[in-house]
Amino acid sequence: MNKIIVLNHKMNLTYNKLDEYIENINKVKTNNNIIICPSSLYLDPFKSKCKFSIGSQNVSNESSGAFTGEVSSLQLKSMGIEYSLVGHSERRNIFNETDELINEKVMKCLENDITPIICVGESLEEKEKDETLIKINNQISHAILGINETNIKELIIAYEPIWAIGSGITPTIEEIKKISDYIYSIIKEAYKLKPIVLYGGSVNKTNIKEILKIDTIDGVLIGTISSKIEEIKEIIEISN
Ligand code: PGA
Repeated sequence: MNKIIVLNHKMNLTYNKLDEYIENINKVKTNNNIIICPSSLYLDPFKSKCKFSIGSQNVSNESSGAFTGEVSSLQLKSMGIEYSLVGHSERRNIFNETDELINEKVMKCLENDITPIICVGESLEEKEKDETLIKINNQISHAILGINETNIKELIIAYEPIWAIGSGITPTIEEIKKISDYIYSIIKEAYKLKPIVLYGGSVNKTNIKEILKIDTIDGVLIGTISSKIEEIKEIIEISN
């Protein structure tokens, strides 16, 4: 079955490298569904020149108005953007995004036909205290408050342990499976909806195949290396 590979460029890639990146990523042959989330500065060139789906890294909880520096789901929709990351741990921790704000962003996305990719995950301290499942359950139930089978087409949850992001360290395959099974069970119980569960955090060319083999994992979210064209081409090709 086709997998989803989300590329989160974060605040990387400068304008002089943009054409080269798009030209090269367009050459990648894959049956998997690639969703590229570039800096919002480059949403337009990616949308108009890149053959893959495009998502935003962030979205406002408001529709329009005096919110300097923000990007709304209505604006994304007007450009034909289909996805947005919501609640990435960098947004939660560096920009103090709360569960309530994340829920508002999710609802605003749904109002404007943007599929939110809801990111959840525990800190190292929480993992060590064996609080991973509680944390994830909490984050998911807050994020999806108000969602029902009629207002959502796809429910995408990305499990990204904070300690694995950018660290080169990943949970074991068994640990990832335990969490993705858990996410499946809580969503199916509440919504009779099949969730799409991604794993993110130090995914690379040596671990991607094994991670994608987990039966309750539908794809991966790749951060920092996704803006490095040669590395990401190789990873996408390995994932086929
Ligand atoms: P990483 O980041 O691949 O650099 O670990 C993942 C993410 O932040 O989504």
